[in-house]
Amino acid sequence: MAIIAVCLAFAFLLSAVGASFHSPAMDYGESTISDIQSYFADGSLTSRQLVSFYLARIQSLNPYLHAVIEVNPDALSDADTADCQRLSGSPLSRGILHGIPILLKDNIVTRDRLNTTAGSLALLGSVVPRDAGVAARLRSAGAIILGKASLSEWAYYRFEDAPSGWSARGGQGINPYVASAGTCGSSSGSAVSAAAGMTAVALGTETHGSIICPASLNSVVGIKPTVGLTSRAGVIPVTPRQDTVGPMARTVADAVAVLEAMVGYDKRDSEATAAAAAFVPEGGYMQFLKEDGLKGKRVGILRKGFFNFVQGSLEKKTLEQHFHVMRKKGAILIDNLEIANASIIQNGAESGEDVAMLAEFKLSVNAYLSELVISPVRSLAEVIAFNNEHKIQEMIEEYGQQRFLDAEKMNGIGRIERAAIKKLGELSENGLEKLMKEKKLDAVVTPNYSCISFLAINGYPGISVPAGYGKSGVPFGICFGGLKGSEPTLIEISYAFEQATKVRKPPLIISAGDLSGR
Ligand SMILES: *[C@@H]1O[C@H](CO)[C@@H](O)[C@H](O)[C@H]1NC(C)=O
Ligand SMILES: *[C@@H]1O[C@H](CO)[C@@H](O)[C@H](O)[C@H]1NC(C)=O
Ligand SMILES: *[C@@H]1O[C@H](CO)[C@@H](O)[C@H](O)[C@H]1NC(C)=O
Repeated sequence: MAIIAVCLAFAFLLSAVGASFHSPAMDYGESTISDIQSYFADGSLTSRQLVSFYLARIQSLNPYLHAVIEVNPDALSDADTADCQRLSGSPLSRGILHGIPILLKDNIVTRDRLNTTAGSLALLGSVVPRDAGVAARLRSAGAIILGKASLSEWAYYRFEDAPSGWSARGGQGINPYVASAGTCGSSSGSAVSAAAGMTAVALGTETHGSIICPASLNSVVGIKPTVGLTSRAGVIPVTPRQDTVGPMARTVADAVAVLEAMVGYDKRDSEATAAAAAFVPEGGYMQFLKEDGLKGKRVGILRKGFFNFVQGSLEKKTLEQHFHVMRKKGAILIDNLEIANASIIQNGAESGEDVAMLAEFKLSVNAYLSELVISPVRSLAEVIAFNNEHKIQEMIEEYGQQRFLDAEKMNGIGRIERAAIKKLGELSENGLEKLMKEKKLDAVVTPNYSCISFLAINGYPGISVPAGYGKSGVPFGICFGGLKGSEPTLIEISYAFEQATKVRKPPLIISAGDLSGR
C-alpha cells in the first residue's frame, strides 16, 4: 500500500513535469499489444502516456467518426495504478493485458462512472449491480477500461431498416476507410475505434453478424467465440441462445490475447459457460499463433450462396490469390462446397430464427432491466413508452421501434418458439455439422460477412480477418468458421493467413487535419 502511494505520487510528479520518454509525437495508433509491452518493459512508455495518446486521438477523431460514446473519467488514474504496479514489480504486471487500454461496446456493463446504455437514452442514468463478467476479468488482468464504444442502438434490435452504426447517444458511426460504405454493426464503434487507432483493442458482441460484419467492413480482426466461451453476464441481451462477446483488434494476436483473458466459467452465466469451459485448452490460446498454422488444414470453400462477387472484380481476384497463398502454405482447400438449406438458414423468417429471437429478447431484456439497481425503465413495455415520449431524440419518427413492438407481443417460449428452436438445431445438424464431418473439414471459408447466419443460429465460432480493399477502397474480410470449440484451429488458420497475406493498412484519416473537406 505504502509503495503504491509513493509510486502514485511519483507518477503524478512525472506527469506534472511532462516527463516523456517517447517523444510526444509518438503514434500508437497502429501499435500491437506486444509492441506496447516491449515499450513498457524498456521503460520508454507508461500506461498514462498511452491512455493520454488514445484519449487525444478519440478527442480529435470522434467528432467525425462517432465511434465512442463515453470515455472513462478514471482511465488516467487506472493507468497510474498500472504504472505503479509495473514499477514495484507486482506479478500482475507481467500479464499481457496489463496496462493495455480497451474500449467496451456500450452494451457491456461496468460498475464505475461510465454509463451503459446500448446507445439508448432510455438507459441513461441506470445503475448496474456489478461489472459484466468479461469486464471483471479484463480488469483483473490489468487492462484499462478506456470507455464505451458506440453501436447500432440496442445492438440493432430496435428497428429493422435504420442505418447500421446509429444510436441516439452515439450518433451515426462513420467508416474510416470510405465514409459512404457504412460501418455495418452492431459493434460499429468497436470496429471503427480499433481501425482508426483510437484504442489498443476493443470488445464487441454478436448475436447475428455484429462482430464479423463491422470487422469485415472496417478492416479489423473480429473473433466471434463459441456461445458460452465468454460470459454474457452483464451484457444487455438479445438472446442467450446466440449472444457472444468477442474481441476486435488490428491483429489476430491482439484479438487472441483479449480472448484468452476473458474465457471461462462464470456463475452468473453458469449453464453456457460451464458447457463451453470444456473447450478452453490447457495453456490458453496464444500457443495457436503459429506461422505454419495453415499446414495440413482442410478448409472448405463455400461458394454457392456465399460468394457473390462479380467475375473479374478486384475482390474476386484478391480472394483467388489468397486461396493460392493458402494452398502454398500447406492448406488443403476443398472447393465449391455447399451447406444444405443455405437459403433457409439465411432467411430468419423461414429458419425460425426471427420468431425465436423475438420471444427470447423480451424475456431476457426484461430480466436485465429488472436487475438494475436504479433505472428509468424496468421493462420492454417501459422502454417502448420512453421511446414514444422522446420521439425526436430517439429518432422514433424516422426509424421506429418495430422489433420492440413485435417482441412485446410475445408470450414466452411456447409451442411455436420451441418448434423454431428445434428447426434451427436441425438446420445446423443437416448443414454445417454434416458438411464438416463428411468432408473432414477443419474450417469453412467465406468472403465478407456471408458466414454470419450459419454461425449465428447454433452458436458456432468464426474469425474475420482483413482480406483486401475493393476498387473504391472499401475493405472486406475473409471469414473462417467452424464447429463449437474449434477456436484453436480457427486461430491457427487465421493467424497463418494474416501473416502470409498482411493485407491490413490503416485508414488515411488519422490526423484531424485530414478530416477537413470530408
Ligand atoms: C453518464 O451519464 C450522465 C448523465 O446521466 C452524465 O452526466 C455523465 O457524464 C455520464 N458519464 C460519463 C463517464 O460520461
Ligand atoms: C463484399 O464486399 C465488397 C466490398 O465491400 C462488395 O463489393 C461486395 O458486394 C460484397 N459481397 C457480398 C457477397 O456481400
Ligand atoms: C435440409 O436439408 C436436408 C438435406 O438436403 C434435408 O434432409 C432436411 O430435411 C432439410 N431441412 C432441415 C430443416 O434441416
